[in-house]
Amino acid sequence: MAIFKFEADKLYRWVADQADFVLLDVRNSKDFGRFKVEGPHPITMLNVSYFDFMEIEDQCIARMPAKDQAIRIVCAKEGSAQFVAEILEKHGFTDVGYLAGGIKSWGNLLVPTLLHGDDGYQLYQFIRPGKGSCSYGLIYQNSMMLFDPTRNLDFYLDFARDQGCTITATAETHLQADYIAGSRMIAEQTGASLYANKDDFSGAQFEYVAVADKQDIGFGDGAPQVTVVCSPGHTPGSTMYLIDERYLITGDIIFIKSIGRPDLGGMVDEWSDTLFETIRNIGDYDGSIIILPGHFIGWDEANEQLSFADSLENIRRANQSIYQIDNGEDFLAFIKQNMREQPPEYAKIRRVNANIEQVDDEEAEILDLGKNECAASAYAAQQAA
Ligand SMILES: [Fe+2]
Repeated sequence: MAIFKFEADKLYRWVADQADFVLLDVRNSKDFGRFKVEGPHPITMLNVSYFDFMEIEDQCIARMPAKDQAIRIVCAKEGSAQFVAEILEKHGFTDVGYLAGGIKSWGNLLVPTLLHGDDGYQLYQFIRPGKGSCSYGLIYQNSMMLFDPTRNLDFYLDFARDQGCTITATAETHLQADYIAGSRMIAEQTGASLYANKDDFSGAQFEYVAVADKQDIGFGDGAPQVTVVCSPGHTPGSTMYLIDERYLITGDIIFIKSIGRPDLGGMVDEWSDTLFETIRNIGDYDGSIIILPGHFIGWDEANEQLSFADSLENIRRANQSIYQIDNGEDFLAFIKQNMREQPPEYAKIRRVNANIEQVDDEEAEILDLGKNECAASAYAAQQAA
């Protein structure tokens, strides 16, 4: 079989379907260590750099699996993966492919999953495996409303077109610090209304509709209600959106395992208090409400459909060590125990997301890649099962 090129969504499918292949990443070990392909199941992975293939080809070949094993190659952009694929082909490897667009295309990949398809509306979760983040799309008749879209505009525009609808609204849950938000660009390109909370966006250099607590965002006659729920804590203007009184898009307030960090703004004591109040108020909601988070930390948070969604009741049970804290002091102590540095580029990403600072496409791409750091506890290890 001749060497072939594959797209990032194909790679995701192989991982999700537990296909038998070896992923050969030919970037240097530093770049590999910083950011690599991760998916819902473990991946057999080899990291042998492209430079080594150039300099010590035979030693590299000796590290490869059997010649009939499927090998899928990833590099930074595409060219060196293709180069290594050609070397493997020359040595008699028979099933070799390389990723189109390199690791960047993996980093930008969005995987749509249908969460709800009855009652005349559809709700999609768009999972971004490379970031550990989720955006959402609500479709009613021929209109689509987005929540926390990434900068991968083409994906959303193509998706809307394939569904026979246009994007008429887009909403931000907060001023994001860990990736470049797409709402402003979507609104510019499509004329969609952009909803955001002025407590985060008051300094932003673009037009938006300021949301108010309990406001119903009119999404058309007969459409499911989209209700604004102001929920400060992760940021002062953090906002959740309740859809049809059944689905709560929580941004970075509630995750499947953990909650959002209140320390990213440098005011941990104040914001921790606010977050504690918000988390307490969430206790008033019906336990059957489905929580739809803005991030995930690991794929162990996914359900059987490989989506990130669970009832509030289950989440409270699985995160007892957080939800059973009954006073602000203990809550702050929990937050401080789990605090860690935030990546230095977060301040810049905030300025870009407020359009106070502009960066070219290449810089935006660099700022945007890599995993998120938004959860208060990085892993669920500390939490009661
Ligand atoms: Fe965040």
